[in-house]
Amino acid sequence: MGLLDLVQWVVQGTVYVGLTAVTGGLFLLYFYQNNLIYPAHFPPGSRQSVSKPDEFNLNDYEDVTITTPDNVKIKAFLIRRPKGTTEQENETVDFATALRDGVRKRGPEKQDAEELAEYTLIYCHANAGNMGHRLPIAKVFHSRCNANVVMFSYRGYGQSEGSPSEAGLKIDAQATLDWVLAHPQLRNTKIVVYGQSLGGAVAIHLASTNEDKIAGLIVENTFLSLPKVVPHILPYLKYLTFLCTQVWDSETTIQRIPRLPILLLSGGKDELIPPSQMAGLCYAARSARGKTKAPSTSTVKRDEHGIRFIVFPNGTHNETCVQRGYFDEVLAFWRECIVGDGSQSKSGETLVPKDVSNVDGVLEAYKTIEKGGEGSRLVTGGLGVPRM
Ligand SMILES: *[C@@H]1O[C@H](CO)[C@@H](O)[C@H](O)[C@H]1NC(C)=O
Ligand SMILES: *[C@@H]1O[C@H](CO)[C@@H](O)[C@H](O)[C@H]1NC(C)=O
Ligand SMILES: *[C@@H]1O[C@H](CO)[C@@H](O)[C@H](O)[C@H]1NC(C)=O
Repeated sequence: MGLLDLVQWVVQGTVYVGLTAVTGGLFLLYFYQNNLIYPAHFPPGSRQSVSKPDEFNLNDYEDVTITTPDNVKIKAFLIRRPKGTTEQENETVDFATALRDGVRKRGPEKQDAEELAEYTLIYCHANAGNMGHRLPIAKVFHSRCNANVVMFSYRGYGQSEGSPSEAGLKIDAQATLDWVLAHPQLRNTKIVVYGQSLGGAVAIHLASTNEDKIAGLIVENTFLSLPKVVPHILPYLKYLTFLCTQVWDSETTIQRIPRLPILLLSGGKDELIPPSQMAGLCYAARSARGKTKAPSTSTVKRDEHGIRFIVFPNGTHNETCVQRGYFDEVLAFWRECIVGDGSQSKSGETLVPKDVSNVDGVLEAYKTIEKGGEGSRLVTGGLGVPRM
């Protein structure tokens, strides 16, 4: 073999191997991106075991199966909040409620007759784990916001059937809202939709197509769109975002919510989704409602056009919700924007305990789960994309 032949052979081989690697990479990226975007198997065990509300002393609950219009059975919890438990000022009272609920074992007919609190939170979880991992957070909404909580595991998550996709998750969220709207005790409650990280995109979409049916939207540490956030998470994919079949274009969608009160909660130290994306969402939503200034990263007005923007300076991607003051802000928003039409201002006064800065309930629960090891870790946010 001549030298030239050898060079040619090496070059050809390299090109060949390179092309194979690139095509293989593209192929993998194209077909397996759902596994990256929707890590439903993480933490390990997430598809097998889902914590139940009573593990957190939320004893008045129902294990629900919702069949979506495309015939996928997804799992949900309805955590009931009996009416008349509004004047609860501290966890001791909560404990008494929990005890009472534990003792009061009633049949389904009797439960149907029970009057429930007039607020319902629909919880859209982030992209790892399942709904059970978020129970400690649900518990705080339940007791502090005086709300029934409906949480669901997306298709392909927890013990829900199917496999996740953007179209599928949107159907699941709609099916859950429709289930609430058909529920005899929940359908006349004020519905607030809450989503963290990827769940924020789910929540924004749900709110945009159901604005007249809900009372508020709360999102935390979510992104403008997947093509805009992927380059920050996986920089080497910068030029390949055109391959994203999953888009979640919240930047556009949030502009289709012209009136609903919106609360945007942003962790200033979010290491996964740059906090500027939350500021960008705020800007998109506000500019659709009227004149507003483009945010310079550090200064976004707190309130404008019915949209509230709050930064927790020390909040990382998955621990913003345990920052001091997080639930103060949630409750202030709840009181002013969800309860807050004059007719209900009286209950508004007592709805929110005066000292709400104590999030120890969450922290305690978090520590307990943390001790349970890897498989039972609290997964709050977490886009969960493996850093390869
Ligand atoms: C909180 O719990 C304590 C301890 O049981 C109780 O004595 C107190 O009345 C409660 N505080 C309020 C404001 O309800
Ligand atoms: C953020 O963390 C720093 C350092 O631990 C602390 O001094 C500061 O009070 C925290 N800020 C807030 C708003 O929690
Ligand atoms: C959040 O993420 C950090 C670092 O990525 C991790 O150490 C921590 O355990 C996570 N916390 C929770 C609540 O999952």
